Amino acid sequence: MEFSVDLGNSAKRRTGCLVVGVYEGRRLSRPAMELDAASRRALDHVVRRGDLEGKLGTALLVHNVPGVASERVLLAGLGLERDFGETAYRTAVCSAVKTLLTTAAADASLCLNALPVNGRDGAWKIEQAVLGIMDCMYRFDELKSKPPQPKPALEHVAFPVANRPEARAGEAAIRRAVAIAEGVALAKDLGNLPGNLCTPAYLAGEARKLGKRHRFEVKVLERKEIEKLGMGGFAAVARGSRQAPKLIVMEYRGGPRRDPPVVLVGKGITFDAGGISIKPALEMDEMKFDMCGAASVFGAIHASARMKLAINVVGIVPATENMPGGNAIKPGDVVTTMSGQTVEVLDTDAEGRVALCDALTYARRYKPAAVVDVATLTGAIVTALGHIATGVFSNDDALARELVAAGESAWDRAWRMPLWDEYQDALKSNFADFPNIGSHAGDAITAACFLSRFTKGFPWGHLDIAGTASRSGEEKGATGRPVPLLAHFLEGRASR
Ligand code: BES
Ligand code: MN
Ligand code: ZN
Repeated sequence: MEFSVDLGNSAKRRTGCLVVGVYEGRRLSRPAMELDAASRRALDHVVRRGDLEGKLGTALLVHNVPGVASERVLLAGLGLERDFGETAYRTAVCSAVKTLLTTAAADASLCLNALPVNGRDGAWKIEQAVLGIMDCMYRFDELKSKPPQPKPALEHVAFPVANRPEARAGEAAIRRAVAIAEGVALAKDLGNLPGNLCTPAYLAGEARKLGKRHRFEVKVLERKEIEKLGMGGFAAVARGSRQAPKLIVMEYRGGPRRDPPVVLVGKGITFDAGGISIKPALEMDEMKFDMCGAASVFGAIHASARMKLAINVVGIVPATENMPGGNAIKPGDVVTTMSGQTVEVLDTDAEGRVALCDALTYARRYKPAAVVDVATLTGAIVTALGHIATGVFSNDDALARELVAAGESAWDRAWRMPLWDEYQDALKSNFADFPNIGSHAGDAITAACFLSRFTKGFPWGHLDIAGTASRSGEEKGATGRPVPLLAHFLEGRASR
């Protein structure tokens, strides 16, 4: 898919389709009115006839509009003008594109970015349109024996801009958005690939490919080295699996040599059966998504490299399955982590934190400016925040604000959760320094408390993406979140 900006009069534009918005109540938006004037009120007639009320997500395709050079005009319903915010904008773009894809139009001019969206600037609207288009055109058919859909005709989308400075800002927004959208697509592909194919070894291979493509260093530590480093937590999780664990380390260096890096740590459980504390069968297939944190780290590093961000980023992914087996850890087993702290594994299904804690300890050797881990860590965060917001936890107020703000600007939103000392009391063990679970009350926070014990001395943020990384039901699949949030966070860091 190609994107560009377009200066000049929309009525004269020779394109497969012009997309303009209509607010609920049959009210033409400004770009629609301009087209309407050029067509001697043809659009207004169509709308008055009653075929399009203007409800959000609806669309009406009109052919042969007089005075308009474009082959088609697509009237896109926007909903009530006063409700037209960021989410409505993304919805309108997406449903317009879905209708466009039913036509033979190879190119289109999307005039929705000219609409006011809650005070957002032109660059933001173009970036979000590109992300929205790539998002709703995404397919994962590589595992179907024959492609279920023909290739879409649409190849080029243009966004109208009013003047030269807007055109320049728009072009920059397109470049940035394409980089992020590619990162999102990479994260979706890795997430959607099932556990029998997306193994720890496969992830390691994908990291090596990424490193070759963008010329950065990739290290993969094998089981022996993981044990030698004293990573007793990570190694313990891996014991039940026939698949060899991999500690994947990616070092993107776009910044000055001596600049301390931002370290991203991604949970890479390629399948979470729960281990001996085995999960119920219902929807267990979705535990192939338990490496979406790792996938988002891959995606964010890809986006950073594509944007040539002047920043050093290290990605660390502990990759393993969590399986029951004769050699698996058992509830009550005590393991010694790389930090020296001992952990009583009361529930082998709370494996993410046990694997991540050693990766966090490993991060220390980079003397990081900040460490952010990304993990499908707890069902409890889904109870708390649903599927809309990612949970943010941090030992540093400024970093927490930065992450929440990055989510706001990327429209990949996150919400801060408390990590007060009082919550630490949930982690008490009679047999080791602490257990890996508490009483289940507030488990997303307990899990974050567990991780916090491995993050003393550096600013640390934790993103619990169990609710946002994937969808179930008819639209089952990985979302690619929080790649946009991470990309905006890193972009902000690179330019400060
Ligand atoms: N990978 C799961 C968390 C999860 C749950 C992700 C639902 C996506 C959707 C994690 O390893 C897990 O099993 N967590 C347990 C922890 C509990 C045993 C303390 C949970 O949340 O139920
Ligand atoms: Mn689990
Ligand atoms: Zn898990």
